[in-house]
Amino acid sequence: MIPKQVSLVEVGPRDGLQNESQPVSAQQKVELIHLLQAAGLREIEATSFVSPKWVPQMADNAQVMSGIQRHEGVRYSVLTPNMKGLEAALALPLGQRPHEIVVFAAATEAFSQRNINCSIEVSIERFRPVVVAAHEAGIKVRSAVSCAMGCPYQGEVSADEVERVVMLLKSIRVDHVGIADTIGVGTPVKVQAAMERALKHYPIGEVSGHFHDTYGQALANIYACLQMGIHIFDASVAGLGGCPYAKGATGNVGTEDALFMLNGLGIDTGIDMSKLIDAAAYISMVLGRKPVSRTGSALLAKREQQRDQQRDQQRAQSVVHA
Ligand code: HMG
Ligand code: MG
Repeated sequence: MIPKQVSLVEVGPRDGLQNESQPVSAQQKVELIHLLQAAGLREIEATSFVSPKWVPQMADNAQVMSGIQRHEGVRYSVLTPNMKGLEAALALPLGQRPHEIVVFAAATEAFSQRNINCSIEVSIERFRPVVVAAHEAGIKVRSAVSCAMGCPYQGEVSADEVERVVMLLKSIRVDHVGIADTIGVGTPVKVQAAMERALKHYPIGEVSGHFHDTYGQALANIYACLQMGIHIFDASVAGLGGCPYAKGATGNVGTEDALFMLNGLGIDTGIDMSKLIDAAAYISMVLGRKPVSRTGSALLAKREQQRDQQRDQQRAQSVVHA
């Protein structure tokens, strides 16, 4: 039985924008977050507290967190790869701090080195005090296991390799594990095999899927997870994004695409499609390009068509009255 309710965690402001080479101001990021929460997104990954030398687009993290007019019931999360990141997040005034932080490990040594400049084992040791300090501050700790379906540097990744990292994260008391297909090469049976391993160590409410859509497999992979009862997925408005350390990797599954499928399955998400399209339209306007998400493109084209029809009707009426 597939779940009746699904949580979509909006990662567009972070995963979606981190790789963007053109400047996006803190104010524009905040506006995007406002539109997303107005659309009913209840979990929003807002920014990253990472090194600005490594990911310049996230350098305005504190400005973004302080600019958000928070909605009750919305949980805001940020990436923190080390104590320095967590300390910066905790230095924010109470009402601007994240509800959750995300630590990100990798299933392969090569990706771990490229993304966070250390081995898997060292990364876990760096996360250990981060988890303790976050818990002391009442902050939940999510995690991502990158390259769980394949690695841009090492190739194939086995379920054993994924499970090894899941167990390491569990050993340092990380609350939630996200299985991440960084380069979008996963297919449903392979995804299910990795998810089964995660579910050996975490309850179903603390396991999520993070599927980049590079090979067009993300929706199929989400459906495969739904069949297992998994009900939390990351998604990125307009299908924005990629990882700076996985060249050629495209964005996460578009939030609109995921929502269209979930709506069709009669699954409740609490998200309003029309308002979500407002958010997709806004960020597409800021970036000066069309959404990558299929549903976003289709519904924006439909809006444009309806506007044209209305304009034509108004013109015809004014001719009649003249
Ligand atoms: P490092 O160079 O090994 O760190 O980077 P370090 O401790 O040696 O410090 C070097 C410099 O960085 C120092 O500054 C530190 O102060 C500074 P300097 O003295 O040279 O002026 N620094 C920091 N500054 C701000 N915030 C911090 C921070 N830490 C150190 N937190 C580090 C190690 C982890 C910091 C670096 O590799 C890094 O920032 N990596 C982030 C990479 C990243 O953000 N990748 C994208 C997000 S993950 C992702 O997209 C995958 C995901 O979506 C799931 C999936 O799809 O797979 C989650
Ligand atoms: Mg990602």
